[in-house]
Amino acid sequence: MPPERPAGESRVTLRFEVEEARAAVLGQVRGDPRVGVVLGSGLGAFAERLSRRQIVPYEEIPYFPVPRVLGHAGNLCVGDVGGATVACLQGRVHAYEGHALDRVVFGVRLLAAIGCHTVLVTNAAGGIGDHLAPGDLMLITDHLNLTGRNPLVGPEENPERRFPDMSEAYDPALRAAAKGAAQDLGIALKEGVYAGVLGPSYETPAEIRMLRTLGADAVGMSTVLEVIALRHLGVRVGAVSAITNRAAGLSATPLRHDEVQETARKMQKTFVRFLTRWIELATEASAGV
Ligand code: HPA
Repeated sequence: MPPERPAGESRVTLRFEVEEARAAVLGQVRGDPRVGVVLGSGLGAFAERLSRRQIVPYEEIPYFPVPRVLGHAGNLCVGDVGGATVACLQGRVHAYEGHALDRVVFGVRLLAAIGCHTVLVTNAAGGIGDHLAPGDLMLITDHLNLTGRNPLVGPEENPERRFPDMSEAYDPALRAAAKGAAQDLGIALKEGVYAGVLGPSYETPAEIRMLRTLGADAVGMSTVLEVIALRHLGVRVGAVSAITNRAAGLSATPLRHDEVQETARKMQKTFVRFLTRWIELATEASAGV
């Protein structure tokens, strides 16, 4: 008989759920993943490149939410790449699907719980900055959380974690490793600030002008809530956007999800090479830690 899920106090319930999920995953997979990867829209192929790959469908993980967006598989994949054992979330859930925020960040909390001290987050995003074109990779240097939400709202068990610092949310050493990876491969790696919005409607041209004024270089509907949850847990975070389109009002054509995905898919080969080398360098940089 599984232990009874505590009702009521939400943090206790959450801790219980993550623990149950952790036990289920560790009961199924061999290996000791220390690096986690979150694969965004159209970028899931990276997980297929893992050697000694083990797949745990989200359905088999207690309390794990299942994504409902086209183009998002729902698997936790564990395997080896770039000299490290990694755990990949192949597909994520978004706040715009109507999930509670504890569900939206459940996957990254699980990555931390199974031992990932580093998590690389990826997404598809619209380019706002003039230096960004579809097909570019943009290393995220900082973010604007414009979702109007925060996964840490609620009771906090540890008073020292009530107000986590976000001044270096995107780890400088991981950013340096990303630049090294791009250089080694001859890939142009752009940089910029990611604005995370709730969605699911794409932005209006006026909203994109506003975001540009606020300092955003790219815009998307994921990542920021996950990064907040990860930093709260003390996990090192790196993140990259696949720029799939120019943001609303910056190109002649209306935005379409299938075109966003198609561009992401076209970027997969470069993206996989980049991510592999990034993990290699990130692992070397943290060796002995
Ligand atoms: N806006 C919001 N989310 C996105 C976009 C965009 O232009 N492209 C890919 N995800």
